[in-house]
Amino acid sequence: MNDNKSTNIIWHDGKVTRDRRSQLMKQKGATLWFTGLSASGKSTIAVEVEEALLEREKVAYRLDGDNIRHGLNRNLGFSADDRHENIRRIGEVSKLFADAGVISLCSFISPYQADRDEVRKIHQEHQIPFIEIFVDCSLDVLEERDPKGLYKKARAGEIKGFTGIDAPYEAPISMELHLRTDQLSLKEECQVVIDYLLENNHL
Ligand code: ADX
Repeated sequence: MNDNKSTNIIWHDGKVTRDRRSQLMKQKGATLWFTGLSASGKSTIAVEVEEALLEREKVAYRLDGDNIRHGLNRNLGFSADDRHENIRRIGEVSKLFADAGVISLCSFISPYQADRDEVRKIHQEHQIPFIEIFVDCSLDVLEERDPKGLYKKARAGEIKGFTGIDAPYEAPISMELHLRTDQLSLKEECQVVIDYLLENNHL
Protein backbone atom coordinates (compact mmCIF):
# COMPACT_ATOMS: atom_id res chain seq x y z
CA MET A 1 0.00 0.00 0.00
CA ASN A 2 1.37 3.40 -0.92
CA ASP A 3 0.26 5.82 1.80
CA ASN A 4 2.61 8.64 0.83
CA LYS A 5 1.10 12.05 1.50
CA SER A 6 4.32 14.00 0.99
CA THR A 7 4.66 15.32 -2.53
CA ASN A 8 7.35 17.34 -4.31
CA ILE A 9 10.09 16.07 -2.05
CA ILE A 10 13.57 15.35 -3.38
CA TRP A 11 16.23 13.28 -1.60
CA HIS A 12 19.28 15.31 -0.57
CA ASP A 13 22.54 13.35 -0.47
CA GLY A 14 25.41 14.23 1.87
CA LYS A 15 29.15 14.01 1.26
CA VAL A 16 29.87 11.59 4.10
CA THR A 17 29.03 7.99 3.17
CA ARG A 18 28.02 5.18 5.47
CA ASP A 19 31.36 3.51 4.73
CA ARG A 20 33.31 6.56 5.88
CA ARG A 21 31.26 6.79 9.06
CA SER A 22 31.82 3.10 9.61
CA GLN A 23 35.59 3.46 9.23
CA LEU A 24 35.62 6.32 11.72
CA MET A 25 33.47 4.42 14.23
CA LYS A 26 35.25 1.09 13.70
CA GLN A 27 31.96 -0.72 13.54
CA LYS A 28 29.13 -1.53 11.16
CA GLY A 29 25.52 -0.65 11.75
CA ALA A 30 22.85 -3.36 11.77
CA THR A 31 19.36 -4.01 13.08
CA LEU A 32 18.75 -6.94 15.39
CA TRP A 33 15.01 -7.48 15.51
CA PHE A 34 13.74 -9.46 18.51
CA THR A 35 10.19 -10.70 17.97
CA GLY A 36 8.08 -12.85 20.30
CA LEU A 37 5.23 -12.86 22.77
CA SER A 38 5.07 -10.53 25.75
CA ALA A 39 7.44 -11.70 28.52
CA SER A 40 9.28 -14.07 26.17
CA GLY A 41 12.56 -12.32 27.00
CA LYS A 42 13.08 -9.92 24.09
CA SER A 43 13.99 -6.89 26.17
CA THR A 44 16.00 -8.91 28.70
CA ILE A 45 18.17 -10.42 25.96
CA ALA A 46 18.57 -7.03 24.24
CA VAL A 47 19.83 -5.51 27.51
CA GLU A 48 22.38 -8.31 27.88
CA VAL A 49 23.50 -8.10 24.24
CA GLU A 50 23.85 -4.32 24.50
CA GLU A 51 26.26 -4.73 27.40
CA ALA A 52 28.19 -7.57 25.73
CA LEU A 53 28.65 -5.35 22.67
CA LEU A 54 29.79 -2.44 24.80
CA GLU A 55 32.41 -4.70 26.36
CA ARG A 56 33.63 -5.35 22.80
CA GLU A 57 33.76 -1.59 22.27
CA LYS A 58 30.75 -1.58 19.94
CA VAL A 59 27.98 0.96 20.32
CA ALA A 60 24.49 -0.50 20.42
CA TYR A 61 21.21 1.15 21.25
CA ARG A 62 17.97 -0.39 22.36
CA LEU A 63 14.56 0.46 20.93
CA ASP A 64 12.03 -1.23 23.17
CA GLY A 65 8.27 -1.60 22.60
CA ASP A 66 7.16 -0.54 26.08
CA ASN A 67 9.66 2.35 26.14
CA ILE A 68 8.89 3.68 22.67
CA ARG A 69 5.18 3.59 23.50
CA HIS A 70 5.91 6.09 26.28
CA GLY A 71 7.03 8.66 23.71
CA LEU A 72 7.28 8.47 19.95
CA ASN A 73 4.47 5.94 19.65
CA ARG A 74 2.33 6.92 22.62
CA ASN A 75 -0.52 7.76 20.24
CA LEU A 76 -0.77 4.13 19.11
CA GLY A 77 -2.82 1.34 20.67
CA PHE A 78 -2.95 -2.38 19.97
CA SER A 79 -5.28 -2.73 16.99
CA ALA A 80 -3.73 -4.45 13.96
CA ASP A 81 -3.47 -1.05 12.23
CA ASP A 82 -1.76 0.59 15.20
CA ARG A 83 0.65 -2.31 15.63
CA HIS A 84 1.45 -2.02 11.91
CA GLU A 85 2.20 1.69 12.31
CA ASN A 86 4.22 0.99 15.48
CA ILE A 87 6.44 -1.44 13.59
CA ARG A 88 6.65 0.71 10.45
CA ARG A 89 7.89 3.72 12.44
CA ILE A 90 10.39 1.72 14.46
CA GLY A 91 11.60 -0.08 11.36
CA GLU A 92 12.38 3.33 9.85
CA VAL A 93 13.98 4.62 13.06
CA SER A 94 16.10 1.50 13.39
CA LYS A 95 17.22 1.80 9.77
CA LEU A 96 18.39 5.36 10.57
CA PHE A 97 20.30 4.22 13.66
CA ALA A 98 21.95 1.41 11.69
CA ASP A 99 22.76 3.80 8.83
CA ALA A 100 24.41 6.05 11.41
CA GLY A 101 26.65 3.10 12.37
CA VAL A 102 24.92 1.93 15.52
CA ILE A 103 23.89 -1.66 16.24
CA SER A 104 20.19 -1.21 16.85
CA LEU A 105 18.44 -3.70 19.14
CA CYS A 106 14.67 -3.67 18.59
CA SER A 107 12.39 -5.55 20.99
CA PHE A 108 8.82 -5.50 19.77
CA ILE A 109 6.20 -8.22 19.81
CA SER A 110 5.70 -7.40 16.11
CA PRO A 111 3.10 -10.13 15.73
CA TYR A 112 2.54 -9.88 11.97
CA GLN A 113 4.97 -11.43 9.50
CA ALA A 114 4.01 -8.91 6.81
CA ASP A 115 5.05 -6.02 9.09
CA ARG A 116 8.39 -7.67 9.90
CA ASP A 117 8.94 -8.40 6.21
CA GLU A 118 8.31 -4.74 5.42
CA VAL A 119 11.01 -3.71 7.90
CA ARG A 120 13.38 -6.28 6.39
CA LYS A 121 12.65 -4.88 2.93
CA ILE A 122 13.53 -1.28 3.83
CA HIS A 123 16.81 -2.52 5.30
CA GLN A 124 17.59 -4.63 2.22
CA GLU A 125 16.86 -1.68 -0.06
CA HIS A 126 19.63 0.21 1.75
CA GLN A 127 22.03 -2.76 2.09
CA ILE A 128 21.73 -2.65 5.87
CA PRO A 129 21.84 -6.00 7.70
CA PHE A 130 18.53 -7.05 9.25
CA ILE A 131 18.69 -9.96 11.66
CA GLU A 132 15.36 -11.38 12.76
CA ILE A 133 15.53 -13.22 16.08
CA PHE A 134 12.56 -15.29 17.19
CA VAL A 135 12.40 -15.18 20.98
CA ASP A 136 10.33 -18.27 21.53
CA CYS A 137 8.74 -19.53 24.73
CA SER A 138 5.71 -21.71 25.38
CA LEU A 139 2.54 -19.94 26.46
CA ASP A 140 2.39 -22.13 29.58
CA VAL A 141 5.75 -20.82 30.77
CA LEU A 142 4.84 -17.25 29.84
CA GLU A 143 1.65 -17.43 31.86
CA GLU A 144 3.62 -18.78 34.78
CA ARG A 145 6.25 -16.01 34.49
CA ASP A 146 3.73 -13.22 33.89
CA PRO A 147 6.06 -10.53 35.31
CA LYS A 148 3.64 -7.68 34.60
CA GLY A 149 0.49 -9.63 35.48
CA LEU A 150 -0.84 -8.97 31.99
CA TYR A 151 -1.64 -12.57 31.04
CA LYS A 152 -3.74 -12.87 34.18
CA LYS A 153 -5.59 -9.70 33.26
CA ALA A 154 -6.06 -10.87 29.67
CA ARG A 155 -7.45 -14.24 30.84
CA ALA A 156 -9.84 -12.35 33.14
CA GLY A 157 -11.03 -10.29 30.17
CA GLU A 158 -9.56 -7.09 31.62
CA ILE A 159 -7.31 -6.57 28.57
CA LYS A 160 -8.86 -7.13 25.16
CA GLY A 161 -6.78 -8.19 22.17
CA PHE A 162 -3.79 -9.41 24.12
CA THR A 163 -1.21 -11.12 21.92
CA GLY A 164 -1.22 -14.90 22.36
CA ILE A 165 -4.54 -14.89 24.23
CA ASP A 166 -7.13 -13.22 22.00
CA ALA A 167 -4.91 -11.55 19.42
CA PRO A 168 -2.69 -13.38 16.95
CA TYR A 169 1.05 -13.93 16.93
CA GLU A 170 2.49 -15.12 13.64
CA ALA A 171 5.70 -16.95 14.52
CA PRO A 172 8.55 -16.41 12.05
CA ILE A 173 9.11 -19.31 9.65
CA SER A 174 12.39 -18.13 8.20
CA MET A 175 14.58 -16.16 10.60
CA GLU A 176 18.26 -15.70 11.26
CA LEU A 177 18.10 -16.94 14.86
CA HIS A 178 15.65 -18.93 16.97
CA LEU A 179 16.09 -18.71 20.74
CA ARG A 180 14.09 -21.02 23.01
CA THR A 181 14.04 -18.99 26.20
CA ASP A 182 12.32 -21.80 28.09
CA GLN A 183 15.35 -24.01 27.34
CA LEU A 184 18.40 -21.72 27.40
CA SER A 185 19.87 -19.48 30.07
CA LEU A 186 20.11 -15.74 29.49
CA LYS A 187 23.90 -16.05 29.22
CA GLU A 188 23.59 -18.76 26.56
CA GLU A 189 21.06 -16.71 24.59
CA CYS A 190 23.35 -13.71 24.61
CA GLN A 191 26.28 -15.85 23.49
CA VAL A 192 24.27 -17.28 20.56
CA VAL A 193 23.59 -13.73 19.36
CA ILE A 194 27.22 -12.59 19.75
CA ASP A 195 28.50 -15.76 18.02
CA TYR A 196 26.09 -15.14 15.13
CA LEU A 197 27.34 -11.57 14.75
CA LEU A 198 30.97 -12.71 14.81
CA GLU A 199 30.45 -15.62 12.40
CA ASN A 200 28.62 -13.41 9.93
CA ASN A 201 31.17 -10.61 10.00
CA HIS A 202 28.83 -8.06 11.58
CA LEU A 203 31.32 -7.03 14.29
S1 ADX B 1 3.45 -4.66 19.14
O1 ADX B 1 2.50 -5.76 19.02
O2 ADX B 1 2.92 -3.40 18.61
O3 ADX B 1 4.78 -5.00 18.56
P1 ADX B 1 4.87 -3.71 21.48
O4 ADX B 1 6.06 -4.61 21.51
O5 ADX B 1 5.04 -2.33 20.93
O6 ADX B 1 3.67 -4.47 20.71
O7 ADX B 1 4.26 -3.55 22.94
C1 ADX B 1 3.99 -4.70 23.70
C2 ADX B 1 3.87 -4.37 25.18
O8 ADX B 1 2.70 -3.61 25.40
C3 ADX B 1 3.73 -5.63 26.01
O9 ADX B 1 4.98 -6.05 26.50
C4 ADX B 1 2.80 -5.23 27.13
O10 ADX B 1 3.54 -4.73 28.22
C5 ADX B 1 2.00 -4.09 26.55
N1 ADX B 1 0.62 -4.40 26.11
C6 ADX B 1 -0.46 -3.68 26.50
N2 ADX B 1 -1.57 -4.14 25.88
C7 ADX B 1 -1.18 -5.17 25.06
C8 ADX B 1 -1.87 -6.03 24.17
N3 ADX B 1 -3.18 -5.92 23.97
N4 ADX B 1 -1.16 -6.98 23.50
C9 ADX B 1 0.17 -7.09 23.71
N5 ADX B 1 0.87 -6.31 24.54
C10 ADX B 1 0.22 -5.34 25.22
